[in-house]
Amino acid sequence: MDSIKCIGLLTSGGDAPGMNAAIRAVTRAAIYKGLEVKGILRGYRGLIFDEIVPFQSNSVSNIIQQGGTILKTARCQEFQTVEGRQIAYEALKRENIDALVVIGGDGSLTGARIFAQEYNYPIVGLPGTIDNDLQGTDLTIGYDTALNTIMQAVDKIRDTASSHERLFFIEIMGRECGNLALNGAIASGAEAAIIPEISIQQDQLADLISNGFRKSKNSSLVLVTEGDITGGAMAMAERVKIEYPQYDVRVTILGHVQRGGSPTANDRILASRMGAAAIDALLDGQRNVMIGIQNDVIVYVPFSKAIKKNKPIQQDLVDTLKILSI
Ligand code: F6P
Repeated sequence: MDSIKCIGLLTSGGDAPGMNAAIRAVTRAAIYKGLEVKGILRGYRGLIFDEIVPFQSNSVSNIIQQGGTILKTARCQEFQTVEGRQIAYEALKRENIDALVVIGGDGSLTGARIFAQEYNYPIVGLPGTIDNDLQGTDLTIGYDTALNTIMQAVDKIRDTASSHERLFFIEIMGRECGNLALNGAIASGAEAAIIPEISIQQDQLADLISNGFRKSKNSSLVLVTEGDITGGAMAMAERVKIEYPQYDVRVTILGHVQRGGSPTANDRILASRMGAAAIDALLDGQRNVMIGIQNDVIVYVPFSKAIKKNKPIQQDLVDTLKILSI
C-alpha cells in the first residue's frame, strides 16, 4: 500500500464509555491531516453486510460526553471465518478504504491481527474495554468510568451492609482480569477483592475468614470478579452460608450498569489522545499495533503482545487493599 488517503473506523466487542470520544478524535485528526473517513457500523459485521457511511467533522459533533458507541458494536461470528474475512476485504477494496482503525478489546484486536496478517492490510487498534485486561498499556478506554461507577454503587450498598450488619459479595465485571474488582475495592474502602490472579494460588475466602476479617467489623463488603475460578459472587455466598451460617449474607451482581454512562474526564482525555495518535501512527507507517499508554506516554504495542492473556496484577495494589482493610 503506497499511501493512505481514506481510513475506515469501527467499534467492536463490548461497548465502553469513551468509545465515542475516540471516534471523534480519530475522525477529526484524520480530517485535519487531509484524510477521508468512513464509519463502519456494527463492528466487523458492517464490512460483511456493507454498512459503511462517509464521516465528516460534524458526524462526530456532540458525542464526546455520550457513553456507548454511535457506530454501534457487535461480536461478529462471520468475521471469525476465512470466507467472512474475504468478504470484508472485498468491501474495503470496493470502498477504497486504505487502512482501518479498530476500537475494541482483546477479541476485536485478535480479529484485527488475523485479518492484517492474511491480507497484509494496515490496521491500528485502540484499547476500548472496561476490563483493562490488554497488555502493554496501563489503561484502556472505559476503565476509569467503570471504576467510578463501581465505587458509587459500592458506596450505596455500604449503607445497607452497615445498617443490617451484613456481609455483601458484589460481583464485578472484568472476565478473568481482577483490575476492576481490586481497584474498585480500594476506591470504595471494601474489605477484600476476590480476583482470578490470586484464586489460582490460594483460597482467598478461607484466608479472609481465618484472618478474622469479621472480628472487628459488623459489616463487610467483598468484591468478586465475575470470571473467578471459585464461581463468582453467588458461589461464594452459598459457600459462606454453609461454612459460616452465623453471617447474614447478600449478593449484588452489578452487571451492565458498569458499562454505561457518560465517560469521566480521564477517559475522554485518554480516548482523545489515543484517537489522534492512531492517525499519526498510520501516517508514520506503523502497522498492526495497538495504541497504548505507559507512564503517561503514548506507545505502540504489537497486536501479538496486546492480546496476550493473563495481564499481571500489581502486587502493591493487592498489598494496599490488605493493609487498609484491617
Ligand atoms: O469485555 C467487557 C465485558 O463487559 C466483560 O467485563 C464481560 O464479561 C463481558 O463484556 C460481557 O459481555 P456481554 O455484554 O456480551 O454479555
